[in-house]
Amino acid sequence: MLESKVVELLNQQVNKELYSAYLYLDFSNFYYDQGLDGFGNWYKIQAQEERDHAMLFVQYLQNNGEKVVLETIDKPQVELTCAKTVLEEGLKHERYVTGLIHTIYDAAHAVKDFRTMQFLDWFVKEQGEEETNAEGLVKKYELFGDDPKSLYMLDSELGARTYSAPSLSL
Ligand code: FEO
Repeated sequence: MLESKVVELLNQQVNKELYSAYLYLDFSNFYYDQGLDGFGNWYKIQAQEERDHAMLFVQYLQNNGEKVVLETIDKPQVELTCAKTVLEEGLKHERYVTGLIHTIYDAAHAVKDFRTMQFLDWFVKEQGEEETNAEGLVKKYELFGDDPKSLYMLDSELGARTYSAPSLSL
């Protein structure tokens, strides 16, 4: 049995990760609509990863005999105005998610729940990588976004991203 506050936060994280998947699917659709299929591909795969994250939280709760409670997933809250703004919103969202993971970690630490801390270690590292990727996208767009030829090449690069399952298995 895990402590109730930790369980509550882990359950909330299932919803947050599914919201992230929903948000990034919205981003993906926006880019496809703009004719930037590579960016669309990148965010479609990002949405798949977020769904995987949700499933890892579900599996962890179930492995510990805890009930999974699904809540309503909000409509994506970000206004999709231009290609660069969407990338900036992606970075902002990843920083927000990092904060959520740290909050669960804090709660687990406070009750000496070492098992949950160990589970969350993977997510702490993953968030570091995701923030770096999101920062990289913003920087690249700042450098190349205004030049059509460079933007085409950047879009092609992002179109080459392929999905791979998370390295964490439970
Ligand atoms: Fe699963 Fe990028 O948060």
